[in-house]
Amino acid sequence: MVPTNELATRATADSNDRLAVDQKHLLHPLHHPTANVKARIWVEGHGAVIKDSTGREYVDGLAGLWNVNVGHGRRELAQAAQEQMSTLAYHSSYAGATNYPAIALAEKLSTLTYPSINTFFFTSGGAEASETSFKTARFYWKAKGKPDKFKVISRMRAYHGLTLAAMSATGLPAFWPMFEPRTPGFLHIDAPDPYRFVNTDPGKSLGVAAADKLEEAILREGPETVAAFIAEPVQGAGGVIVPPADYFPRIREICDQYDVLFIADEVITGFGRTGRWFGLEHYGVEPDIMQFAKGITSGYVPLGGIGVSDAVRDVINGVPAAKRWMHAYTYSGHPTCCAVALKNIEIIEREKLVDRAATQGARFLEKLRTLEALDGVGHVRGQGMIAGVEVVADKATKKLFPPEAGMTQRLTDALLEHGLVTRVALDCICLAPPLIISDELLEQAVASLRQAIPAAVATAIG
Ligand SMILES: Cc1ncc(COP(=O)(O)O)c(C=O)c1O
Repeated sequence: MVPTNELATRATADSNDRLAVDQKHLLHPLHHPTANVKARIWVEGHGAVIKDSTGREYVDGLAGLWNVNVGHGRRELAQAAQEQMSTLAYHSSYAGATNYPAIALAEKLSTLTYPSINTFFFTSGGAEASETSFKTARFYWKAKGKPDKFKVISRMRAYHGLTLAAMSATGLPAFWPMFEPRTPGFLHIDAPDPYRFVNTDPGKSLGVAAADKLEEAILREGPETVAAFIAEPVQGAGGVIVPPADYFPRIREICDQYDVLFIADEVITGFGRTGRWFGLEHYGVEPDIMQFAKGITSGYVPLGGIGVSDAVRDVINGVPAAKRWMHAYTYSGHPTCCAVALKNIEIIEREKLVDRAATQGARFLEKLRTLEALDGVGHVRGQGMIAGVEVVADKATKKLFPPEAGMTQRLTDALLEHGLVTRVALDCICLAPPLIISDELLEQAVASLRQAIPAAVATAIG
């Protein structure tokens, strides 16, 4: 919905005033002052629609930042927070203390996650979950008498957060240079991208060839030095990469063969996004450690964490007290965040949003695939309610537009102009709307893409 002219003009003047204050007092994630001059101020959300300070409404094509799974404006979640804050706002969860919502959430997660994962640690978000996973992998091997196993292998185009070790595992080089040196012992293999992976072994499927890159890396580094491999079941921020069906089974095999812990980063893929509760369920394999955040509270309050397999838990519980798992965050097991997560999971279950993501996501993908006929659309992919539309300069060679064409910004702007807000990563338009989105709004999103992509491509070509 576009507001009337008079209201919009007044609101724009107010917004400009607040943006000047923003420029003066706020540093933003991925900050540069030029990027925020014409920023939108988001003020309200209902379901899968969000409104800016001028009163204009947009389809929320990324559910916030891949997290608002149950949609905006859920009073039940606000009430759950209010009730918990009024009862017990906070107490630490350091060993020797606990609280009812944290206990109930861990118990609930043990019924929802992989069968071998029954023990949980809570953080405030995804990067803290990554740090916790890496430290737990190191701890595990030290406790097993193998202190030299400390390296972590991840994939190019992976995103695991931006604290120092998480940034080092993240396989998007744009995040590195101004913060280097990276943490030692982090290395990357190619992403299993069905569109771009170059399979040089005709005897192997693409999935197996991509997974075998892990074996090559382990052998190159020496298995006695590698602690863990971390992977998102669907790579999100790197451009929605859905690996082939035989990729993760082969990864599991390699991890078992070389005694390497397999960490699944389910920060985006958890809590129904892919049409299953957790992303690796599509592949029939289980990780040793899993991490989650985002959808666990649908973004209403910050919460993340890890789950560990019974085998990893036994090792953590088995060391002498002097060698304890000396890891902590003030907000681990925060009672309000855990209470909101429990209510959020109740909504996902009650409204059958996981099944909905599977069936509605399949229909969405079918509609998105019709965009492949457009000039500039190189590849469309997805799984459940997460999808990517990759824009290329040349469909035959899959060549991207050069950086000076500024395609990311052009696409983002054109989509906003046509009423769809989302992020563009490496010229892939990422789509992960709230799981409650209606068919009508999905149609509207596809229509926005159909208009915006040719407009952006035309201006880039000039
Ligand atoms: C897969 C994955 N892991 C980790 C993170 C980092 O989470 P946070 O931004 O909460 O630190 C993200 C954030 O987008 C993510 O997508």
